[in-house]
Amino acid sequence: PTAAPLTGRRVLVTSGPTHEPIDPVRYLANRSSGRQGHAIAAAAAAAGADVTLVSGPVQIPDPTGVRVIRVETARAMLAAVEETLPADIAVFTAAVGDWRPATVGAGKIKKDGAEPAPLVLVENPDILATVAARTSDRPTLVVGFAAETDDVLANAHRKIARKGCDLLVANDVSAAGGVMGGRDNTVHLVGRDGSVETWPTLDKDEVGRRLVTRFAALLPA
Ligand code: C5P
Repeated sequence: PTAAPLTGRRVLVTSGPTHEPIDPVRYLANRSSGRQGHAIAAAAAAAGADVTLVSGPVQIPDPTGVRVIRVETARAMLAAVEETLPADIAVFTAAVGDWRPATVGAGKIKKDGAEPAPLVLVENPDILATVAARTSDRPTLVVGFAAETDDVLANAHRKIARKGCDLLVANDVSAAGGVMGGRDNTVHLVGRDGSVETWPTLDKDEVGRRLVTRFAALLPA
């Protein structure tokens, strides 16, 4: 393998959480740090790719050599992803909020009543499934992530079929493991044929480099 196996290839990576506004000062979010997605983007750039990183709000620096599009919501992330296509490889690492508040307060919602107003949620678009189902400009390799707290592999097998992606990277994000927001990750690579490859616990930069090497090997020459 050459030092720059992705020269001339376009790679799209999503990373980080989304923020789904409730009103101008409040939002729904999750514990994603963006470390794994940013590490994949950095590794792809180091491998010679032309990389666009679509990132939710994170507290870590931009990877070097990568075009970064910053977004807040799932819907803005989908729009940025669609604007970035075509790509050879698309990696959906972001912990996208599954739901958003049905209405967003124009001003700060006041605690003036006896009962707090119920928070009504609606489903966000599934960015990975939307891109995987495209009939034009579908990336050659569409990679999903599955952050699970239970039955990691059983859920991963179901998810790869449901999402229509080519490869799924499953990881256990139970609180005890410290993966979400943490430095290390233990991943299982699940293929469409049901194959599973479990990697040792590695820091997220090393997971990113190894994943990029694998993605490059899966692209047709
Ligand atoms: O269904 P679940 O959220 O576990 O799926 C995780 C995978 O789907 C990740 O690759 C994530 O980036 C992607 N996803 C997405 N848009 C959503 C929800 C999840 O792209 N609205």
